[in-house]
Amino acid sequence: MRGAGTIHIVAGAGTGIGRAVAAAFVEAGDSVVITGRRRNVLAATAADLGARARWAAFDATDPAQVAAALDELPSTVDVLVNNAGGNTDLTGGPTDSGEPTELARLAAAWRANLDANVLSAVLVTDALRPRLAPGGAVVNVSSIAAHRGGSGSYGAAKAAVEAWTLTLAQQLGPDRITANVVAPGYIADTEFFRDRMTPQREASLIAQATNGRAGVPGDVAAAVLFLASPAAGHITAQTIHVNGGAWAGR
Ligand SMILES: NC(=O)c1ccc[n+]([C@@H]2O[C@H](COP(=O)([O-])OP(=O)(O)OC[C@H]3O[C@@H](n4cnc5c(N)ncnc54)[C@H](OP(=O)(O)O)[C@@H]3O)[C@@H](O)[C@H]2O)c1
Repeated sequence: MRGAGTIHIVAGAGTGIGRAVAAAFVEAGDSVVITGRRRNVLAATAADLGARARWAAFDATDPAQVAAALDELPSTVDVLVNNAGGNTDLTGGPTDSGEPTELARLAAAWRANLDANVLSAVLVTDALRPRLAPGGAVVNVSSIAAHRGGSGSYGAAKAAVEAWTLTLAQQLGPDRITANVVAPGYIADTEFFRDRMTPQREASLIAQATNGRAGVPGDVAAAVLFLASPAAGHITAQTIHVNGGAWAGR
């Protein structure tokens, strides 16, 4: 909690983890602006979150839309959470891209994941950089996929988010703004897996966690809330893993 008058932006907060992060900020007494592409989803979530939440719709991968959205975003930002993203291989995939050759389809698939997960965070952060308040925080959402492999361009994109966060921490440090990563493992109750999750796959993901359960969006929100708080002011350029022990990030 940073107190009355502070404003947080949570990108990708109409659903899932971002929604839980926004709810946790509101619960702690902070005001939030939630963002995403679907206006109806954002409006419904903001209404559920109450009077301290408002929304702005834009595609975080589109430089023109990010620039245009600045008019709707606060002039001072205390905390920015770059949570927008997901595995674009689950939402379309190489064969749906309309590209004529296998290599062109591969390129399109990689660009889609890099856009969705890296460019989204880079563009929003750069656009808001002049508005980040000294003493504030940026939290980027990565994934266990960046560390243990198995998901191709999605894991590579999340690894790039973590590498970029180190540079960001160096750039923001003189203003006492922290930049950290939260890397979730399997988190249920999100739209991440679309219609691709099966009971067998879920059981296998849960079995990888030492605590034998799926993560929930609130597990990630708790870590984000801590990194966003003044109590974490000396923690920067770090990755916190929220995965029930499914991967030992040290
Ligand atoms: N669920 C998991 O198991 C898991 C594990 C590790 C990491 N993660 C990461 O956690 C983050 C949140 O995902 P989630 O699991 O909560 O899934 P989710 O429910 O699909 O949430 C992702 C949110 O991001 C928004 N978004 C996606 N692309 C966007 C774009 N280009 N511009 C603006 N908003 C965009 C989506 O809204 P619109 O579609 O309306 O834009 C959606 O509300 C993602 O970065 C994901 O990679 C998830």
